[in-house]
Amino acid sequence: MASIHIIGGKKLKGRVRLQAAKNAVLPIIAACILTKSTVVLKNCPPLLDILAMLEIIRSLGGRAEFDNIDNQIQLDCSSLALNKIDDNLTGLLRSSIFILGPLLSRFKAAKLSLPGGCKIGSRPIDIHLDGLKKLGVTFDDSDENLINCDGSKMKSGIINLKFPSVGATENLMMAAALLDGATVIHGAAKEPEVVDLANFISHLGAKIYGAGTDTIIIEGSANLLNTTQTIEYTPISDRIVAGTYLCGVAMTGGRIQIDNVNPLHIYPAIQVLKQTGVRFRFFKEDKKIPACVGNLVKKGIFNPIGTLIISASGRPKGCHHIETSPYPLFPTDLQAQFGALFSSTKNHIGVISENLFESRFGYIEGLKKMGAVVYTNANTAVFKGSRLVGASVRAEDLRGGAALCLAGLKAEGKTIVSDIFHIDRGYYKIEEDLKALGANIWREQ
Ligand code: UD1
Repeated sequence: MASIHIIGGKKLKGRVRLQAAKNAVLPIIAACILTKSTVVLKNCPPLLDILAMLEIIRSLGGRAEFDNIDNQIQLDCSSLALNKIDDNLTGLLRSSIFILGPLLSRFKAAKLSLPGGCKIGSRPIDIHLDGLKKLGVTFDDSDENLINCDGSKMKSGIINLKFPSVGATENLMMAAALLDGATVIHGAAKEPEVVDLANFISHLGAKIYGAGTDTIIIEGSANLLNTTQTIEYTPISDRIVAGTYLCGVAMTGGRIQIDNVNPLHIYPAIQVLKQTGVRFRFFKEDKKIPACVGNLVKKGIFNPIGTLIISASGRPKGCHHIETSPYPLFPTDLQAQFGALFSSTKNHIGVISENLFESRFGYIEGLKKMGAVVYTNANTAVFKGSRLVGASVRAEDLRGGAALCLAGLKAEGKTIVSDIFHIDRGYYKIEEDLKALGANIWREQ
């Protein structure tokens, strides 16, 4: 089993460029089912989850290739057939559920076993299925492990989501894309990855209004399927990878430059980081925009993509309370990394309330082995900053695994993080990025 080895104590210094966000690429790959055009997706990392999603497309008869040199994905779903997908594939990742919407839109039927993914809570799919029912889909419930759908009576409609689920919003946008007429999703998720999927589907030819707000209108059209020109698209960059490396600098000190970042996508995380004493500068097209994100909003720059420079010295400061919530509030996918950060302050208290997933504190056991002082009660964890020391710890899930790597960068001595397949699902060779930033870190097979 591969593991990551870290000798802590080095400051992070250098430059890193973000690749496309896993959570943007995965639904976009599924959305390629909606077109017979060849699609080229640029700046994509060959993450395990992304490769598994490409395998799902291949198992349906599509062509899906990853070009490691250009970091491009090429997809051709023109000759897709409605096969039942191998259970081992759907079990690999939660995002296999994304193919339900586009398959129904295109074939008016779909059959797949229940999705897998990180074990961070019960992660039901009722919101996906309730929304599809509103579009006329019926389900055969005779096998409880199988999602067996009949979409022969599908038509556009009005859907009210009981919670702004990211995955359900995306699935339903794709389900509606080939249906004639307008589908309205009320209570939609507003995450940047939802907006990116809407932009991609618009590239295919559908009209989508309101993505990024809580009401999304999809004006679908069966004509989407009939396009043949090649479509090129660059998904948005990974805000969670950016936030992870920012936490790393806040913990170790140093100065790094992150290229291809949209600071507005991680606005709440940047606000907390500022309170720990780090400094930010942001450059867009080589122009310095002082005071970082606040000024972007004041200046009306809502879609800035540029270079973020973060510098920090000394240990992170201040008492903090963060609560994870749907976008635009604090993202659950950065919760564990901030847990590691709060563990490394000098006696300060940091409180985290995890409001989205019930089992997302798995990493705390690893932190405690490293000397962290943490009290948990239900969905709340209280961290008292202390000295971290190296230990052998296990990644329990993707973001928790990344948090343990951050703790290892800060800890005295050697940390070994095992079960790093979790980390590989969402960070492409995290040890190479961190090594390029000056960390003493390597992978052992
Ligand atoms: C997506 C992200 C994940 C992130 C999460 C929340 C991808 C591939 N994954 O996951 O990294 O942590 O958003 O920002 O984009 N829920 C239900 N019923 C449903 C669906 C969801 O009860 O049918 C609940 C979930 O259990 C959870 C909450 O809603 O408590 C949020 O889940 P959701 O927004 O759907 O997350 P994912 O799309 O799975």
